[in-house]
Amino acid sequence: MAVLLKRTGYCGDLRLADAGAEAVLNGWVARARRLGGIVFCDLRDRSGIVQVVFDETVPAAVFEQAEALRSEYVVGVRGVVRERSAKNPELATGDVEVLARELVVYSEAETPPIYVKDDDNVGEDLRLKHRYLDLRKPKMQRNLAFRAEVCRIARNYYAECGFIEVETPVLVKPTPEGARDYLVPSRVKPGNFYALPQSPQLYKQLLMASGCDRYVQIAKCFRDEDLRADRQPEFTQIDLEMSFVDVDDVIAVQEGFLARVMKEVKGVELALPLPRLTWAEAMRRYGSDKPDVRFGLELTDISDAVKGSEFGVFANAVQDGGSVRGICAPGASESFSRKDIDKLTEAARAYGAKGLSWLRVGADGVTSSFSKFYDEAGLAALAALFKAKEGDLVLIAADRDKVVFDTLGFLRCELARRLGLVDDASQDGPYAFLWVVDFPLFEEDGEGGIMPMHHPFTSPNPEDLALLDTEPIKARALAYDIVLNGNELGGGSIRIHDGALQAKMFALLGLTGEETQSKFGFLLDAFRYGVPPHGGLAYGLDRLVMLLLGESSIRETIAFPKNQQAEDPVSGAPGTADPASLGELGIRLG
Ligand code: AMO
Repeated sequence: MAVLLKRTGYCGDLRLADAGAEAVLNGWVARARRLGGIVFCDLRDRSGIVQVVFDETVPAAVFEQAEALRSEYVVGVRGVVRERSAKNPELATGDVEVLARELVVYSEAETPPIYVKDDDNVGEDLRLKHRYLDLRKPKMQRNLAFRAEVCRIARNYYAECGFIEVETPVLVKPTPEGARDYLVPSRVKPGNFYALPQSPQLYKQLLMASGCDRYVQIAKCFRDEDLRADRQPEFTQIDLEMSFVDVDDVIAVQEGFLARVMKEVKGVELALPLPRLTWAEAMRRYGSDKPDVRFGLELTDISDAVKGSEFGVFANAVQDGGSVRGICAPGASESFSRKDIDKLTEAARAYGAKGLSWLRVGADGVTSSFSKFYDEAGLAALAALFKAKEGDLVLIAADRDKVVFDTLGFLRCELARRLGLVDDASQDGPYAFLWVVDFPLFEEDGEGGIMPMHHPFTSPNPEDLALLDTEPIKARALAYDIVLNGNELGGGSIRIHDGALQAKMFALLGLTGEETQSKFGFLLDAFRYGVPPHGGLAYGLDRLVMLLLGESSIRETIAFPKNQQAEDPVSGAPGTADPASLGELGIRLG
């Protein structure tokens, strides 16, 4: 076994001021090449890269060893730091190099299946399969360190605010919160299952009933749902709960946290208080409950103007209780051909839109996809409603409100992207935070019933309590989401702390008394023995880190993420279980 050289510091930290000092470095060979009588080796550790030089002054045996170095060998080097004659401005250490005296090869490496460099352009599957190589890349090391920093700030901040960190169980009772549960069979109670928690929601409420007052946890959550760039089956929340608070109290503590994070990791002073929009206003102006307010492109409602239109699509939408709304994209007429609009219309179908209408203001007047039904003056009047000027393009959706909002909410972001109004890869902002408040308590479940918009523990707005008996769908909740650049960063609410009201909620959701007792009896029991008013929130940590790093996927912020098939490509999980283990669990495969 090679002797261990005790290092004096990290590769990436060496600077001109270190010239003349002895350095002992340990790391990976990023690149080694021989030029005449000299071997140049770029040595990498998690801090960065520095050039190491082996020349004729090193003992012959050491030079021979250096000549044999290959990428990803793990080595130790002892040498002297000196100023480089040819400086490399691309490297933080580019002013210096280490003239080697001693070399130890700890481990050789086969030719790696992916290059360990940021711009390797290799497919994600291969990257995830060899994640230990992928994570050696400077960008990935930076991402891991950045994430750790955000966690450290969260722990410090919430501790300073009197929160105590409590670990809640990971083997819990199956109580679906919306997504499918991951189930774990019980060996000692055959036929029974634990679930992995979708969030610590019920336990954090029990902690409030336990007198904890302020709880925080960096908690792993598990949801067996379809994957997207901003979703993983296993993800992390910064989860918290507070007793004796109202909406403003919870929000004030969060704003302190967000301001601290932005200051410490981005050097950005967040202007507080953050803007708040009611859910209704967010939908009306942006067609989304997580609006990206880095750009305008707000929605205009033209329902009143077109309700008697000859154009059936418009008139019928209004008559059927829906609406006609559109977005004016300034100067976009030129950039969007008929074909581009067809493509947008195709994409809008995913949101339920049956089609899109458009209107362009040109030098010789207004043209539109529904010119048949309007004369010149009529089209000009519609264009005026959108304040459209020459060169502008207006896209219009007519349907049920939900379809109109979903379609235009999507189109707004798509237009902004194509018009270059946003740069999601930016690492310097802008960072448009805002709260969306006054969410509806329920939404339609698509099968004639209602379901909670957040979760069933969310308190109705006390002003709307009477609506629970008449028109529950119209009741507002004491729920809030924190939104950053069009992404839902976190969400929470003031909770129901009254057993009777909680039971009523379950009944409204169609649960029988028996179902309620078997699924949530323990919560209702706790409510019988004195529970404080309480509320809280959970941030998606992966999303927060992703957005602050300007990454396009949360997989870039997680050390070992799952792929699109919910597999861990490194280990191959999930795997089959051996028959003996299944037998012990009383499980027979069909
Ligand atoms: P919610 O379900 O809104 O609320 O989750 C809170 C935040 O967690 C993040 N998130 C996810 N991140 C990655 N992958 C996923 N599959 C995923 N699902 C959610 C989002 C989201 O805003 N118990 C409540 C919180 C509360 O009421 O206090 C809850 O879990 O950023």
